[in-house]
Amino acid sequence: MTSNTPQPVTFKPSGPLGGKISVPGDKSISHRALILSALAIGKSRITGLLEGEDVLATADALRAMGAKIEKKDDVWTVHGVGVGGLMQPANVLDMGNSGTSTRLLMGLIASHGISATFTGDASLSKRPMGRVIDPLSDMGADIQARETSDHKSCLPLTVRGLCPAIPIEYRLPVASAQVKSAILLAGLNTPGITRIVEPVLTRDHSETMLRGFGAELNVETDAEGCRIISLTGEAELQPQKIKVPGDPSSAAFMVVAALIVPGSDIVIENVGINPTRAGLFEVLQDMGGDISFKRKRTVGGEPVADIHVRHSPLTGIDVPAAIAPSMIDEFPVLFVAAAMASGTTTTRGLHELRVKESDRLSQMAKGLEALSVKLDEKDDGLTIEGSGGKPLPGARTKPVIETALDHRIAMSFAVAGLVTKSGLAIDDITPVQTSFPGFQDLMQTLASK
Ligand code: S3P
Repeated sequence: MTSNTPQPVTFKPSGPLGGKISVPGDKSISHRALILSALAIGKSRITGLLEGEDVLATADALRAMGAKIEKKDDVWTVHGVGVGGLMQPANVLDMGNSGTSTRLLMGLIASHGISATFTGDASLSKRPMGRVIDPLSDMGADIQARETSDHKSCLPLTVRGLCPAIPIEYRLPVASAQVKSAILLAGLNTPGITRIVEPVLTRDHSETMLRGFGAELNVETDAEGCRIISLTGEAELQPQKIKVPGDPSSAAFMVVAALIVPGSDIVIENVGINPTRAGLFEVLQDMGGDISFKRKRTVGGEPVADIHVRHSPLTGIDVPAAIAPSMIDEFPVLFVAAAMASGTTTTRGLHELRVKESDRLSQMAKGLEALSVKLDEKDDGLTIEGSGGKPLPGARTKPVIETALDHRIAMSFAVAGLVTKSGLAIDDITPVQTSFPGFQDLMQTLASK
């Protein structure tokens, strides 16, 4: 887990970025690979797994519930216990900073005859869990959470699963892949058909991987354009060999860095470009970004490519709200690109950004304002006046940019630091370990080419 000691860091202006790199494995796919492998009967092998703290928290929790998980050389081996075979964990499950671990594992436990208590760090303990508690309670789980003064259900919480659980049909009230996946994972050990109605498409890694492990899962689209996902329960999952592609949400920082630092020309190899995740690349291309996809291929059911990015003058655009779910984690770094574009970039429909690892609209607005960027913070988005490519005034000493235990805020300002006049300081780089170990070294590699 992240050490409790904050580590301030300064990021300096940079010359052109260059070279060929790869980024660590996809965080969403890594969590799912471990979880489904733990539920298969027998031995699965995973390569390219993200070894960030969030994913390691999932691995530890699965070990505590009976799965044997080990790493040798670059290969992770998971000896699964079979759907229905999870054991009662002896201790509290500490989820650190990871909302994905928490919500997905809550789903898993909800339909097993075991109980578990979840705790997390200060950021995770503020995040709303009602969105998973509601459907999992409908399936019969008993969930007791801490209620906050503003009536939110938060960690610590205890899930007592029901076995056999009750299959439900559930219409997602928020566009959330975590909620969808929690219900699907609960549905795996539930008799009958668990059905999810998804009005707005969110990342579909769970559906793809469940099919890959042999679950019976059907997706249809109804007359209103909603996806109807039906999963047949009491599934028997077959062990798999999984190759996790590079994380587009991590590549995003390098892509924006190369676009805004004059003279840059980089290639990021082996990045996942699933359309449910690739919204940022589309938006940056619409802003004039020179981004091209080479060697497009499919790995384990997921589209993958090498991404070639060259410095480009960017122009502000109106980002349609409909694209938000496919780039929900990329807005912080898009705001940095917008701060360097010519003209105005408008974003809306981003209420969900207020309940991520931090309130990302407010944290980004505060940090960018400290760099003298002109912006307007609305309830559901930011409107940003770009500098037209001119370097941003720095914030090297005071005020130091606050990262609020949020890895993506820290990395977004690391990128912004490259295009400041005199550099900037952030209060804490340690949260980067949750999703992108090696981030600073990789930035250094690009800057030294
Ligand atoms: C994730 C889904 C998204 C995303 C998170 C990872 C997942 O969260 O922000 O980083 O792996 O399912 P929501 O489901 O809350 O949108």
